[in-house]
Amino acid sequence: MTKSLPKFCFVIHPLSLDDVARYEPGAAGKGAPIIRKIMEWMPSYAAVHVTGIRTPDGREAEGWFVAAPLLPDQMMEFPREEVYKRIVRAIEIGAELGAQVAGLGAFTGVVGDGGVTIAERSPIPVTTGNSLTIAAGIQSLFRGAREMEIDTTQATAVVAGATGSIGGACVRLVAPKVRKVILVARNQTRLAKYHESIAGQLPCESSYTTDISAAVRQAQLILTATSSTQDVIEPEDLQTGAVVCELSLPHDVSRRVALERPDVLVTEGGNMLVPGNPRFERIREPGTEFDLNLPPRTALACMSETMVLALERRFEPYTLGRGIDINKVIEIERMATECGFTLADMRAFDAAITPEKIRATREAARLRGGSALSPVTAQRAMGAPST
Ligand SMILES: NC(=O)c1ccc[n+]([C@@H]2O[C@H](COP(=O)([O-])OP(=O)(O)OC[C@H]3O[C@@H](n4cnc5c(N)ncnc54)[C@H](OP(=O)(O)O)[C@@H]3O)[C@@H](O)[C@H]2O)c1
Repeated sequence: MTKSLPKFCFVIHPLSLDDVARYEPGAAGKGAPIIRKIMEWMPSYAAVHVTGIRTPDGREAEGWFVAAPLLPDQMMEFPREEVYKRIVRAIEIGAELGAQVAGLGAFTGVVGDGGVTIAERSPIPVTTGNSLTIAAGIQSLFRGAREMEIDTTQATAVVAGATGSIGGACVRLVAPKVRKVILVARNQTRLAKYHESIAGQLPCESSYTTDISAAVRQAQLILTATSSTQDVIEPEDLQTGAVVCELSLPHDVSRRVALERPDVLVTEGGNMLVPGNPRFERIREPGTEFDLNLPPRTALACMSETMVLALERRFEPYTLGRGIDINKVIEIERMATECGFTLADMRAFDAAITPEKIRATREAARLRGGSALSPVTAQRAMGAPST
């Protein structure tokens, strides 16, 4: 008897009004107030059927993206119970379709207690997907640093959202590779307490601040994982030659950075290539592809964690809440690699970062004599002959 495919569901929601039109092409052109009003009463629904995921050793999985159609600010501002109800209903729809594990996308994993209450109310095990997001984010930040020729052992890193589920773990994983790490969040009391709890275990110098501009001005490496619905990284604060790894959804980095800072490398850190020939088919318009606003075969790392758990038949509440176990980050990274998932090519501001673009960014940083650059690169920028 053949074993049936393992199945997952993943709760999605639009991050912006542009996203709403991507989800529902009929919404294009309608005014924001109308769209927001419609979303207030719109129930959760199965949006996408995912097939074609296949590991190098031939294992397959099938799944559904189920929409809990609220914008990020609505998720944060609506009565908590109303939001939980929509998310739990989305998971129930997935479970009715056969899903054995559920992932929480973007703000559905942020709202409230980072998935804990939702998991208690869910008919199937739930994960936020944050463990693989953290692993991908760290890989991506240091890939960016290599590309920009930053000597990370001499670098100062900022983690924005440092008291969060993703940011808290990123602080601990960044610290062994840099000279100094600065923790940033808004709530001073929580930030001070978290810093006090880990400072003694960090192998590098550390400090904390609620002033994100002041922190960014000191840093060559920046990792953003805030739950802000507004931009928090502005072009005037960034050092020449800095690398920004963006994990937040919606994004934290102002679009002005793309226009005004050709010498800074911004990269979305949480995108992964899915093994096999994955297809994301719209359920309401069979035969048409759902536009994830990502290149082909690419998914978010949190989606990828849910897929990996299905492929590995680990139907368990893998990542929940705010104190993430680093061993789980290491384990899911290993499982993802074994299943054939790899970090996607660099991308930011809806466009691929080509090798030419990286060269141009490095060159722009050299011309400005970037403080983030390694001593050799900086010397070259000052006109010293290269060896
Ligand atoms: N790329 C992916 O695959 C992926 C996967 C999962 C999640 N995400 C995204 O990652 C982000 C973080 O998720 P999470 O689960 O770690 O959230 P979380 O646990 O709620 O943590 C959010 C952190 O951001 C801080 N924060 C909020 N607003 C801020 C601001 N304006 N300036 C500085 N810090 C601020 C919070 O502290 P204070 O409240 O004290 O400021 C907290 O430290 C979200 O945007 C989420 O959508 C991405």
